[in-house]
Amino acid sequence: MLNKEFQEIYKNIELMMDEALKNSAHPYRTFSLASLEGKSPNLRTVVLREFSFENCFIDCHSDIRSPKINEFRKNDKFSALFYSSEEKIQLRFKGRVEIFHKNNVTKERWKSVTPSSKRCYLGPYSPSEQLEKYHPNIPENVKFKNPSEDDSNVGYDNFVIIRCHFNELDYLKLKYSGHLRCKLVFEKKNINAFWLAP
Ligand SMILES: Cc1cc2nc3c(=O)[nH]c(=O)nc-3n(C[C@H](O)[C@H](O)[C@H](O)COP(=O)(O)O)c2cc1C
Repeated sequence: MLNKEFQEIYKNIELMMDEALKNSAHPYRTFSLASLEGKSPNLRTVVLREFSFENCFIDCHSDIRSPKINEFRKNDKFSALFYSSEEKIQLRFKGRVEIFHKNNVTKERWKSVTPSSKRCYLGPYSPSEQLEKYHPNIPENVKFKNPSEDDSNVGYDNFVIIRCHFNELDYLKLKYSGHLRCKLVFEKKNINAFWLAP
């Protein structure tokens, strides 16, 4: 059971994540997700698609052909970084990734992907593949319009959910009167919290 100070922080994070899921302009709507490419860190921006404190996960969507999927298959450890310059709050999550592909979760989620986003999974090339010449990696017929349902469903085979199961959260709030920093550690249904020097 968290004490009152940590409970307030927890509730505030939950509120901000909820807001980010509803509002695409929210600073937490995108975050930096790190994997390991061999021994080197590899970062990219992704869109927040789902968040659960109760079940300790963050979801983003991707294309199975993108290099990060192989990187996570070789080493499932991740770090995810959020920053809001409005709230001056940085969140740093750590844990292990699970990749969902063509299962019940992706099947259900695919229904809520907008037709415009579904276009991203129709690219003839693998994301990050080297090209002979420029190509936007979306088919010509959907360059200026959304695909029909039948056309977009071809993209389902490439669609994956990257589920980031976190077990650690490093929270930092910048404040003139003294920054605030703490760590939350998630173990099964227990949460331990302690202060860190900012
Ligand atoms: C604002 C923004 C949002 C992005 N969202 C995603 C996303 O949700 N999923 C994704 O796979 N790539 C997303 N990208 C592209 C990635 O940052 C990256 O370029 C791409 O996924 C290839 O990454 P990889 O070679 O590390 O696999 C986004 C890029 C930007 C700039």
